[in-house]
Amino acid sequence: MDPALERAKSAAAGKAVEAVRPGERLALGTGSTAAYAVRALAERFPGVRFDCVASSNATADLARSLGIPVRDLRPGDRFDRMLDGADEVDERLNLTKGGGGALLREKLLAELSHEVVILVDPTKLVHRLGERAPIPIEVVPFARPTVEEALGREGFRVALRRIPDGRPFRTDNGNEILDFNPSEPLADPGRTASELRRRTGVVEVGIFVGIATRVLVGSPDGQVVERRPSDRPAP
Ligand code: A5P
Repeated sequence: MDPALERAKSAAAGKAVEAVRPGERLALGTGSTAAYAVRALAERFPGVRFDCVASSNATADLARSLGIPVRDLRPGDRFDRMLDGADEVDERLNLTKGGGGALLREKLLAELSHEVVILVDPTKLVHRLGERAPIPIEVVPFARPTVEEALGREGFRVALRRIPDGRPFRTDNGNEILDFNPSEPLADPGRTASELRRRTGVVEVGIFVGIATRVLVGSPDGQVVERRPSDRPAP
């Protein structure tokens, strides 16, 4: 754990929580930066009730342990705000997500959220997706051997994600993850996402195009820079 990066994550999370209003409907992301946001919520709003759905069991457990109730998703759900991290943020605010395996629930909750606030430290900023992190592909275990074979045949270099004892990693949905390591950064993330998704058995891909409404980049000195889609460079 790098203390400077931890300060940067905490700064971004603290800034995001400053904008939250009591009683909001919140979608909670997953990962170490999202965890800072959950802790900041509990600290800033002791005893205040929020209407929360979490993108992973780990986040739900953390929130509940801090006195923040978390419920299951319901028909008609919409959220005022999602607070989440990312593995990569490109210049157009496209994201790679799923390093923690929560990509499916994260994408679903993000799509249901008015504001999708992404909290990162500066190491997550890239020119193009695929520069620093693999692209996670969530796959139904039964189909994984054939999906893996087909993607390999099409030239996608994928590796099954495993836990330390060698068994396949399982998501909270009971699925497996194939991590795609592109030989060069993605020129067109949307197209790559479509190409990766079209195999039967692929449940979701950790490429988030046009989903972030704000990105907060924290620094170790506590400064936070905000980026919005309108700040994007011209194509
Ligand atoms: C979880 O599946 C991911 O999408 C996380 O948002 C991502 O891995 C960022 O995690 P950290 O904040 O721990 O870097």
